Amino acid sequence: MPEARLIVDRDFVLSDLDRRIFGAFVEHMGRCVYGGIYEPGHPTADEQGFRGDVLALTRELGPTIIRYPGGNFLSGYNWEDGVGPRAQRPVRRDLAWFSTETNQFGTNEFIDWCRKADIEPMLGVNMGTRGADAARRYLEYCNHVGGSELSDLRIAHGYKQPHDVKFWCIGNEMDGPWQICHKTAAEYGRAAQEAAKVMRWTDPTIQLAACGSSHRNMASYGAWEYDVLDACFDQVDLISLHTYFRNDADDMAEYFGVVELMDAFIKEVVSICDAVAAKRRSYKRIMLSFDEWNVWYRTHQIEHMRKPGWPVAPKLIEEVYNMEDALIVGGALIALMNNADRVKSACLAQLVNVIGPIMTDTGGAAWRQTIFHPFALAARHGHGRVMQTRITSPAYAAKAFPEIPYLYASVVDNPADGTTTIFAMNRHLSEPLDLTAELRGLGSDRRIVAAHELHSPKLKVANTREMPNAVVPRANADVAISGERLTVRLKPASWNAIVTQGAARPG
Ligand code: AHR
Repeated sequence: MPEARLIVDRDFVLSDLDRRIFGAFVEHMGRCVYGGIYEPGHPTADEQGFRGDVLALTRELGPTIIRYPGGNFLSGYNWEDGVGPRAQRPVRRDLAWFSTETNQFGTNEFIDWCRKADIEPMLGVNMGTRGADAARRYLEYCNHVGGSELSDLRIAHGYKQPHDVKFWCIGNEMDGPWQICHKTAAEYGRAAQEAAKVMRWTDPTIQLAACGSSHRNMASYGAWEYDVLDACFDQVDLISLHTYFRNDADDMAEYFGVVELMDAFIKEVVSICDAVAAKRRSYKRIMLSFDEWNVWYRTHQIEHMRKPGWPVAPKLIEEVYNMEDALIVGGALIALMNNADRVKSACLAQLVNVIGPIMTDTGGAAWRQTIFHPFALAARHGHGRVMQTRITSPAYAAKAFPEIPYLYASVVDNPADGTTTIFAMNRHLSEPLDLTAELRGLGSDRRIVAAHELHSPKLKVANTREMPNAVVPRANADVAISGERLTVRLKPASWNAIVTQGAARPG
């Protein structure tokens, strides 16, 4: 039976964990907004038309921040269309998804929904059809206290208090030819520099993320990050990364390799950020916002992204996730946590229906997809600081990546309440993995609070309307702790969150 060892030491901390890495994404696309979070007339809808069942599942999922309103939609969006009296809002054709946008849901509704869900809003500004001027006006509408045309407009719309949105994305995937008004790196870098400058003048308290590459496979990848940051290094705080995992070969051993590639992607972008800093002899460090990531490949063809006839809220990219995908999402969360020194926000794309952890029937039920579970467990237990891990594990070779250790793990320690959580995935498809974890210096008074295990002998099984609980976390009884040494048997192809607790410690 394969065995693995993991060591952490209280003195070796990688970084505090920014809880915004457990973010999600709501785009005006398909049924994410309409029929997802917003559906007036639904039996569970509240007085604002927000679906109560989706709100409850969102709270259970636990995203800390949500990016809005796009995505590709952002690059053609006029924020003014979505504020003010609903009857006066224009109906428009959205060129991102060839849908009709009614604008019955806009920024103020999104902020209200976030407040109800206890989630921080993250907004994007349109750098496709628009630019710096619309961006600064949108920011003034949202964040200025009052006494100016646009802040008074917000107040007239019923929002006396500023929304005080701190996190702003300067456009979306501007490197992609599919983007409305796609730009070269030089065009975007310069435009982002000026947009960021006037946005920061408008509100100096905000954080700004520039667009990185849409994918690591883009031909312009690397050069794009360098050139964009070379233009706007002084004005921005973060650069974005996007990735969508695929299992085209239908080979789980290969599929696990995408998590290693995500880790490599992060480290490569960090190197580029630091190369731009080095050129300037600057100690400033650009942080990473992995603000779109998920599994998405079954519904990637054009017919899933575009329905004829300019429909309102059509079914688009409603990917149904299986156990394999839950493992990959769980692995990606480990990769994000293990890069917590540079990844300061990340958004699972998206939240509902559109490649979402939550699925709904319009007018009907809502349920948890398989990928819901690793996300909810990581968001619930990922508090505190990420520890450096020393891992010894047998490995296998794949085409995607030369060496894939069976054990993939992250340890998050929260001195404030004495909890230490081991997130661990066994990538062996047929053998359990016996893991010994030494939690050195974290207290010999530890006990196991919970050992959550996500596993199914059927890797293709999915959660559906008819079988919403085919894949759910269960308790793993094969775990023990003695002093600072924990032992656990990880089932083949399983993702685990093992929560231990000792006395609270000084941070
Ligand atoms: O999340 C779906 C789409 O994927 C987003 O609109 C876009 O940014 C990305 O290409």
